[in-house]
Amino acid sequence: MTTPSTLTSESKPVFSADQISVIFVLGGPGAGKGTQCAKLVEDYGFVHLSAGDLLRAEQAREGSEYGTLIKHYIKEGLIVPQEITLALLKNAIQEHYNNKGAKNFLIDGFPRKMDQAISFEEQIAPSKFTLFFDCPENVMLERLLERGKTSGRVDDNIESIKKRFKTFVETSMPVVNYFDKQSKVVKIRCDEPVEKVYNQVKAAVDERVPKI
Ligand code: C5P
Ligand code: MG
Repeated sequence: MTTPSTLTSESKPVFSADQISVIFVLGGPGAGKGTQCAKLVEDYGFVHLSAGDLLRAEQAREGSEYGTLIKHYIKEGLIVPQEITLALLKNAIQEHYNNKGAKNFLIDGFPRKMDQAISFEEQIAPSKFTLFFDCPENVMLERLLERGKTSGRVDDNIESIKKRFKTFVETSMPVVNYFDKQSKVVKIRCDEPVEKVYNQVKAAVDERVPKI
């Protein structure tokens, strides 16, 4: 088995489909991705990596050269340049793989733009499938405004939320459509109670990842 090291310009990704299993988790802001991922972690032992959480941690890290840039992109609801997010994800995956022997990953809130989708699969690992949380905007808006009362997030306010919705439709939906054309998307209806949504999620995972 090869030891994953750094990103290279070779055509082969660092990890093969035999080494790790990657499920992308996509959906608009407030669709419930984080909530459902937490439940999967409990029941199946996935490693849950949220691209947004990794970016916020990097933004807050003392000495980070990207702090100011990341904060700006997040507040404006824009997609942070892919090099930063890819490096954070690659490091996190390698750490879990090397130190804990982790093999099953939920990559939440990523890829949010076509370049990220292509680069991740070319350079890091192929994805098994994508869970797509399909949620009406009015439901997401209500959830985000509620969350904003306590989240402390700079982007859980009406101005940023509108920008995030626009980015999702214009920039992230093409990624969902790209994987859908490869029959690699499972659509989850998520304007339902958490447990009902989770039943759909579990059925998708049980069908597609029978070994774990
Ligand atoms: O997924 P989450 O809502 O936590 O993401 C918050 C913000 O982080 C996004 O609105 C975007 O500005 C940034 N982000 C990004 N690229 C990703 C995931 C998140 O630029 N793949
Ligand atoms: Mg989240």
